[in-house]
Amino acid sequence: MGRWRFTGVVALILLLSAASHGRELPVKKSGQSFVYNHTLAKSLVEYASAVYMTDLTALYTWTCSRCNDLTQGFEMRSLIVDVENCLQAFVGVAHNLNSIVVAIRGTQENSVQNWIKDLIWKQLDLSYPNMPNAKVHSGFFSSYNNTILRLAITSAVRKARKSYGNINVIVTGHSMGGAMASFCALDLAMKLGSDSVQLMTFGQPRVGNAAFASYFAKYVPNTIRVTHGHDIVPHLPPYFSFLPQLTYHHFPREVWVHDSEGNTTEQICDNSGEDPKCCRCISMFSLSIQDHFTYLGVDMEADDWSTCRIIGAQSVKKFYKELTSNIIMAKHNVDVSIVEPSKQRDLSSFR
Ligand SMILES: *[C@@H]1O[C@H](CO)[C@@H](O)[C@H](O)[C@H]1NC(C)=O
Ligand SMILES: *[C@@H]1O[C@H](CO)[C@@H](O)[C@H](O)[C@H]1NC(C)=O
Ligand SMILES: *[C@@H]1O[C@H](CO)[C@@H](O)[C@H](O)[C@H]1NC(C)=O
Repeated sequence: MGRWRFTGVVALILLLSAASHGRELPVKKSGQSFVYNHTLAKSLVEYASAVYMTDLTALYTWTCSRCNDLTQGFEMRSLIVDVENCLQAFVGVAHNLNSIVVAIRGTQENSVQNWIKDLIWKQLDLSYPNMPNAKVHSGFFSSYNNTILRLAITSAVRKARKSYGNINVIVTGHSMGGAMASFCALDLAMKLGSDSVQLMTFGQPRVGNAAFASYFAKYVPNTIRVTHGHDIVPHLPPYFSFLPQLTYHHFPREVWVHDSEGNTTEQICDNSGEDPKCCRCISMFSLSIQDHFTYLGVDMEADDWSTCRIIGAQSVKKFYKELTSNIIMAKHNVDVSIVEPSKQRDLSSFR
């Protein structure tokens, strides 16, 4: 199988990082420990799964095939689509959680394998603004900061908090969507205060260095980073502990979901961000892509694997046609922000 050969190549590079048990740069411990709640995780993984759906009308009216179960009654407030950069997100109110939920979609390219292979070479090439020594990958950061996402999400959150009082914001996403969700949560926490923002991501890659992880733990203490079994993505870009200043470093707190002796365990990891007893204990040669596509039993793949651009454009066109009738269906005004290819600058250089 192609997948196995692919995993072998990645494993070879990761072997280097596994062999390196040198000096580790500890992430500054933050005082309080945020409690992992399985029921909440189950709801949020359903939101992170729903944001992959390509039928915008069904998403907008919250009638998609994944728009049920624990997410029933979700009040969609803003649907955000960036066709050129293949980004999709929504903001709304989950009344049963008394929270605003922000969900950001992961990569929806026809080759997730290529995307994962590229992750190995991502450089820490951007100094995070106003955080001395904190470095991040510019592509992950720019996909949030320098696209429609930042403006559309922050404005939708502000409006929702105006309508419902200053309720909490929970940000979620899977894979690349988890990376963008991290930058979004940090941005919101700096604006609204750390107590108002929670982050829960699923199978996200590393996004910055140890200094960045320390700041992150301070600004967004209510963070859970769920990893699953042998999922390869949380192992990338690689962590080289013999290069503490140069290497990527996860922020806390990981919860590693894995099967042991027939039972599913949700293991709460230490607050270092790189707990060697959690997903890092998996042998580099048994990492897999398969485990990346299911979290807590929920399907995390796009419902259509055609290339993002074509689907995006078709879906958008159809959506515009149907929008008129759906406006009557919605009990409130839903903001729709769509950026089409012709209407924006090229961001491909960030990727
Ligand atoms: C877990 O989260 C659910 C949903 O938000 C909530 O109803 C429940 O009370 C929480 N449980 C604990 C122990 O906090
Ligand atoms: C992030 O976006 C803001 C505008 O939304 C811009 O002023 C700022 O320069 C961006 N930061 C970086 C590091 O690109
Ligand atoms: C797995 O679950 C079964 C039934 O709940 C229990 O009897 C058994 O002890 C569990 N095994 C482990 C290793 O936790």
